[in-house]
Formats: sequence, structure tokens, C-alpha cells
Amino acid sequence: MDLQGRRILLGITGGIAAYKSAALCRLLKTAGAEVRVVMTEHAKQFITPLTMATLSKNPILVEFFDPENGAWNSHVSLGEWADCFVIAPATANTLAKMAAGIADNLLLTTYLSARCPVAVAPTMDLDMYAHPATRQNLATLAARGVGIVEAGDGELASGLRGKGRMAEPETIAAFVGELLAGKGTAAERQSVDSVPAEAPDSRPLAGKRFVVTAGATIEAIDPVRFLSNHSSGKMGYAIAEQLARRGAAVTLVSGRTALDAPAGVTRIDILSAEEMYEATVAAFADADGAVMCAAVADYTPCEVADRKLKKGDGELMIRLRRTRDIAAELGARKGDRLLVGFALETDAEREHAREKLERKNFDFIVLNSLRDAGAGFRGDTNKVTLIDRTASEELPLLSKREVAARIADKIAGLAAMRPAR
Ligand code: C5P
Repeated sequence: MDLQGRRILLGITGGIAAYKSAALCRLLKTAGAEVRVVMTEHAKQFITPLTMATLSKNPILVEFFDPENGAWNSHVSLGEWADCFVIAPATANTLAKMAAGIADNLLLTTYLSARCPVAVAPTMDLDMYAHPATRQNLATLAARGVGIVEAGDGELASGLRGKGRMAEPETIAAFVGELLAGKGTAAERQSVDSVPAEAPDSRPLAGKRFVVTAGATIEAIDPVRFLSNHSSGKMGYAIAEQLARRGAAVTLVSGRTALDAPAGVTRIDILSAEEMYEATVAAFADADGAVMCAAVADYTPCEVADRKLKKGDGELMIRLRRTRDIAAELGARKGDRLLVGFALETDAEREHAREKLERKNFDFIVLNSLRDAGAGFRGDTNKVTLIDRTASEELPLLSKREVAARIADKIAGLAAMRPAR
């Protein structure tokens, strides 16, 4: 990773993972970046300003005024100085304040005035991380274009195991590298504001925001059992990756999969169709388009038992109700934005796909038939037909990555014809 000449502002908040910020700072420096550090008051309890000042080779910023000499630490000029502002660790408290626009310390005022890409690496206990308030705050930030380096699974400081561990410094540094790939530096922006930093056609989706849904949803029956499907998420993840490579800021709303988020893509993890609906609709508010690749449950149990259902001798009835159709909802809201859907069919394929194209107001639909060998779930290949209102294009059997590249190219072609938002 080459960060030569990049200026990175590292924000540290008060979480136990702050000890990893030292390693992150070193990695960024070793890659050639200039690093300045802004800490919250609480962060000083977890890692000393002396450690961070020594590693970053810059004085640490905590207060609006230097208590020694009254010098003013300007949040505006810090935000202008940076090519990227990465907050690692980002506690639930700071994420909530960022989402709400609260500005009661130097780190938060800097966030509000930053013009550069911003990324956060959340860290907290598993229940805090899974809490709807935190999920909503992360969705709000992602919808505004903040990059989210999702927390990992593992042992937590509380002694519990689960999701909430801050991503490893290497992952965060790589995320920063991807965020900055192909972007001009802040210094260049200030001197030649209107000159693009790269050839326009290498990143045709630069400046555009896309939402991609992927993977299977999980509908709880009781605390132990659920209804789901065989989707692996591979197709949606490949599309997120290809859109990001073309310069788009991508929010990937993901059901449960075994995959890692592609570099530079902001992933929001959800479980149920309802959670996917909330996160996707929120992220779409600010987006230029969406690709609906998830295998969303059409039905969910009417009631979720709060204890494990006991087995009996007779039959068990589980009543199901319809879930909301996320694609159709986005179709109703889209205006002149782009919406791409998928259809997985087993019979009368084209007819069903065309009906969905109309009903959900897609710009085009990607049809795969389970009758085609090498198409559909789990595998690494797919055989699809791209269908829009005037034409259809049948692609040969390709890797999911190549299929994703063809879909991303078609999206880039259509996006070029849309008015800038
Ligand atoms: O109607 P059907 O489920 O076959 O439609 C498939 C398309 O609609 C896919 O793009 C899928 O991601 C999307 N979809 C959705 N929300 C649902 C059901 C399907 O976004 N509840």
C-alpha cells in the first residue's frame, strides 16, 4: 500500500481498542503518510498522548485551545488539511453523536467540517453493536458516505465473545488506501480545485453512490431456529466490488454470508428482511442508484417465540406473513435514479423477469435460471440475461466476477446518461 504524501487525520475515541491505534498509526506512517492525531478526552484514559505524539511525530490535538498558551486548534483547518479522516476506534457514543451532528469536542467538530473522505472503525460490546440504535446510526453515517470498517467477531474486552472487536490495523489501513485510491490530495484540491485527478473513463462512477443488497435474510422462529435460503452473497459482493472499482461509493447491505466486504466498500450487516428494508431505504435516500441482489425472504413468522419451541408428538404449525418488498419500495421512490434487480426463475423465465422489471420499476433486470448448469446459488459462475424495456442480452457462462463487471459496465453506461444529482 502506497500512501506517499497523503495526509491522514487519525481520530481516537475512548475504547479499549485504542491500543491498536498505535499500530495503525505506524502502518500509515510506514506507507508514507503524514499522520496527525485528534483524541477525545476519554481516549487519553486508554492510550497516552505521548505514545501517539511519538509515533505520529506530531503534537496530539484534544482541546479547542492549547491550555498552555491559548493557541486555537482549528477544526476547520484540520478538516481541510486531511486527505482522509479515519476514526479508529469509534465508540457507540461517538458514532451516535456523529449521526446526530453533535459537536461537543474537537474530534466531532472536525468531523462536521471535514471535506475529505471519512471512515470509522467501530468497537464496542456485542450487544451495543447489535442494538438497533447503533445499527441505525451506522446506516445513517453510511448513507452520508462515511466508510465503515465493520467490527470483527471474537473475544471482547468484557469477556464475552461476538461481534464488536475493532477491525485489525492492517484492515483499516487497507480500507484507507482504497478510499484514497485514484483521489487527488487535499493540497492538490486546494490549488487546482477543478482539475480531475485521473482520466475520467477509468472511474466512470466517481462521485456516485450506490446501494447493493446481497446474501440471504434470516427470519427467526425462536431464539434457535430460523427460515432462510441458499444464497451465498457472492454475486452481490462481486457487484459491490466492481462498482467500487469504477469509483462509486458503495454501501453493501448484507445478509449473513461467509464473505469479507470488498476493499473500500461500506458494509451494513443485517439479519431479517425487515432490517434489510430499513437499512436499504435509509441508504437509498442519498444514493444515485441501487442493485438488488439479495435473496430476501418473502414470508416471516407472524410471531417469534421468546423461548425455544418444545417438540411435541403432533404437527407444528408456523403462521407466516408477507415481508415488505424492498425493491418495489425503491422502485416507487427512485425518480430518475438507477435501479437494477435480479430474477431467479425456474420456469417461464423471461416472462416472469419482464413482469418483475415492470412491477418493481427496474431499469434492467438480471435473469438467471436454475435450469442453466453453472447458474444461481453458491457456485462461482453464473449464466445470466440482462433484460431492459427495449432489449435483452444473453451472456455466456462466466465467473460471477466477470458477470459483475458486465453489470457494472451497463450501470456506468446508463449513469452517464443521467443528470448529475
Ligand atoms: O419477486 P422476487 O423476489 O423474485 O424479485 C426478485 C428481486 O426483488 C431481486 O432483485 C430481489 O433482491 C428483490 N427483492 C427485494 N425485496 C423483497 C423481495 C425481493 O428487494 N422482499
